[in-house]
Amino acid sequence: MELLTILILILSCPLIVTSEDYHYMAYVIQWVPTYCGRVNCKADIMQRPLRFTLHGLWPGNSTGGSLKCNPPPHGTEDKVKEVWKNSKTLEDNLHKYWPSLSSDGWTDEEFWMHEWEAHGYCTKQTLPAADYFRAAIVANVDKLLARVRNTFMTANMVGLGDQAYDKQHLIIALHNARGLPPDPYISCIPKNSSHVFLKEIHFCLDKTKLQRFIPCPTSQDTRGCGEGNIIIPSRAIYGSLLQAGG
Ligand SMILES: *[C@@H]1O[C@H](CO)[C@@H](O)[C@H](O)[C@H]1NC(C)=O
Ligand SMILES: *[C@@H]1O[C@H](CO)[C@@H](O)[C@H](O)[C@H]1NC(C)=O
Repeated sequence: MELLTILILILSCPLIVTSEDYHYMAYVIQWVPTYCGRVNCKADIMQRPLRFTLHGLWPGNSTGGSLKCNPPPHGTEDKVKEVWKNSKTLEDNLHKYWPSLSSDGWTDEEFWMHEWEAHGYCTKQTLPAADYFRAAIVANVDKLLARVRNTFMTANMVGLGDQAYDKQHLIIALHNARGLPPDPYISCIPKNSSHVFLKEIHFCLDKTKLQRFIPCPTSQDTRGCGEGNIIIPSRAIYGSLLQAGG
């Protein structure tokens, strides 16, 4: 009897803490000129810099905060690599839409692995690594990235000198564009004490299958953008954004 009680106690006590308390998976895309204005980027990236590429998929909580994972145990990497090693199509697409931009930094594979370790590993109870990497190539990823870019290009919001926009302006442009997921977040990095550069757009994926975009939760976090004076740079000249502080 006593043994049974102990057994029941052990079984009913959750010893393994899972990271199921995330609410959505952010699909984070980055504006290449902002990144490459501060970091020396690979030559092939610089041939076509005016675009968005994937930064990573990050689990987020109910108030829009990003969750970071504890490092996975040694030996996990080889297993994870099989996901793209087993699919040439997947691997090709990952290279295409999720490149490592920096010339002296990671290879593409190291970049994907880093993102998975920092943001994918702790969702593994609900989300196998294969799903994480497959979701990087969401349906029509090419159209999604092009649409976001074209939203800003056709509105002449990219470049033109020091023209800056307030956050609401960018959000409304994204909202009014056809075929874009609802209610994204934007993030920025500082230029100087009064202006910032657009850095990323975060769309939100339904966490169960990572196939459907949902509105991002209401969030007070400004992600470095403040309320205004956001510049979307048109040139990715290394060093040109470096005086930029931050
Ligand atoms: C969400 O995560 C952020 C940190 O990224 C934290 O500050 C915030 O309190 C979290 N919100 C909830 C409801 O847990
Ligand atoms: C910050 O940058 C903007 C845009 O280039 C410029 O107009 C403004 O004068 C700068 N502000 C300061 C305090 O340097």
